Amino acid sequence: MEIRNFCIISHIDHGKSTLADRFLEMTGSVASRKMRPQYLDSMELEREKGITIKMQPVRMKYKDYILNLVDTPGHVDFSYEVSRSLAAVEGAVLLVDASKGIQAQTLANLELAQKQSLAIIPVVNKIDMVQANVEEAVKELAELLKIEEKEIIKISAKNGTNVDKVLQAVIEKVPCPGIDSGKPFRALIFDSVYDSYKGVVAYVRVFDGEIESRERISLIAAGVEGEIKELGYFTPDFLPRAKLVAGEIGYIATGVKEPGLVRVGDTIVLKGENGSSPLAGYKEPEPMVYASLYPEDPDDFDLLKDALSKLKLNDPALVFEPETKEALGRGFRCGFLGTLHAEIISERLLREFGLNLVISSPSVVYKADDKFIYSASEWPEQAQKSEEPWVLIEVITPSKYMGKIMELFSNTRAVFIETKYMSKERIILIYEAPLREIIVNFYDKLKGVSQGFASMSYKILGYRPSELIKMDILIAGDLEPAFSKIVPKEKAYEEGKALVLKLKESLPAQQFSVALQAVIGGKVIARETIKARRKDVTGYLYGGDYTRKRKLLEKQKKGKKLLKEKGEVRITTKTFLEVFRG
Ligand code: GTP
Repeated sequence: MEIRNFCIISHIDHGKSTLADRFLEMTGSVASRKMRPQYLDSMELEREKGITIKMQPVRMKYKDYILNLVDTPGHVDFSYEVSRSLAAVEGAVLLVDASKGIQAQTLANLELAQKQSLAIIPVVNKIDMVQANVEEAVKELAELLKIEEKEIIKISAKNGTNVDKVLQAVIEKVPCPGIDSGKPFRALIFDSVYDSYKGVVAYVRVFDGEIESRERISLIAAGVEGEIKELGYFTPDFLPRAKLVAGEIGYIATGVKEPGLVRVGDTIVLKGENGSSPLAGYKEPEPMVYASLYPEDPDDFDLLKDALSKLKLNDPALVFEPETKEALGRGFRCGFLGTLHAEIISERLLREFGLNLVISSPSVVYKADDKFIYSASEWPEQAQKSEEPWVLIEVITPSKYMGKIMELFSNTRAVFIETKYMSKERIILIYEAPLREIIVNFYDKLKGVSQGFASMSYKILGYRPSELIKMDILIAGDLEPAFSKIVPKEKAYEEGKALVLKLKESLPAQQFSVALQAVIGGKVIARETIKARRKDVTGYLYGGDYTRKRKLLEKQKKGKKLLKEKGEVRITTKTFLEVFRG
């Protein structure tokens, strides 16, 4: 039987999982009594949020063909996952929601697919919806792909309308994988999970040759060897088989017990064939956003460490290293692809491992004198050169929100590049901006000013020179290193002011007044004062004995001065957390 390997790409919520469900039903891959919506989204969190985070491959039989479908996530933070699934297939169904039209991730994912030279099957979905503007969506898509409108398949993934035409197009348009089973075996790992008995189970696309269970294998990049415990297909559950051959997608339980050694993008060969060249691997994901995670219960540190190692196995984009903070104890500084990624990881730590965490507000990775800087404490005294990551942002929006969106950008350090027209009513706004400006809250604000209609995606452009400085916080004259941060010079005043205000709101009043200062290189740029909590020492005196009253007040003042000289402001964990969480 001939094979077709394909995936579905789209903007978030345009209906990938629903279409995949129809495929599973039509091909009889899942018994209908077992069928439930979004079958391939197996993580509890995915089903609840209605978004796909992890892909789950599935092998289906349709007519005389074997169709291997690899599902992909649509959110901006997960483009890394998308590129991994794209390397395993020859074609992509490009899905566009008829009620929304082309969105930012439609473009971003299409670009990735075109880079891999995949066959593209254009589909407009949700034609059953009252709000659907099928004609407009078809027109936009035809123009984007430079094809005729009649080549676009109009479907309802919900009702199943025309879904058979999509499968037919997959058979006709997606090329059959080149099969040469005579060559030495080579397979590319595109994902993996851990099984305590079988070791690391690698999800693979076999490119050359064939392999049978119990054979001995090597991982080229890691230089690790293993003996296959089991291999087979995804139905989507594991279905053990006797062998896997070139062109197929399946799994290999490697028997390797150390999770860290099996890496996505590595090539598996037969033992003794280490001379084989590696298949084109994937680009290492580069975390651009950092946040610190601390267990609420300090005794959970080892549990957190273990949980992070396990999550990393099927999420190679996650990186982490231990860190200690006075008020919070031991935790980890973690690198993420973006803020949604950070949110998903912390939710998984809670749900899958029962860990309650304290999470810092995310920050980007800067560079000073060509070194990566992950926290303000690493900033050199006299940085000669400082840089920060920049991104290219594409916003797709109905043109009536253009003014408001441009205004939103003008409050950041973004640079306008151009406007492109997709149709009379819809435009693409292109900006370049420091990543720092958009990681916290920007997406929510964009949704806010456009009533939810604008979508955005961004690509990392690289590091660019920037005037960055370290801002310190003094509390009653004492430096509190936990609150130091790196800021762009032009935003220093604004951010300093905001930080001391926040501290003022959350620090409890003391017996004496406390100065809160934001300082740069010894110079105070913002200041707030928390007034003393006045204990009424004169309360028991009644009548008009003014001198006594004054004497008592004087005495109290002296006492406060003494306390103040000792500089004893205790920063409570609550304050620390409020500032830490941003
Ligand atoms: P992500 O994986 O998070 O990117 O989402 P997705 O692309 O997999 O979208 P999903 O299949 O979860 O569908 C999103 C929403 O659209 C769900 O509420 C679906 O029920 C709905 N939906 C999908 N296809 C159709 C359709 O053809 N018609 C209608 N009316 N609704 C649909």
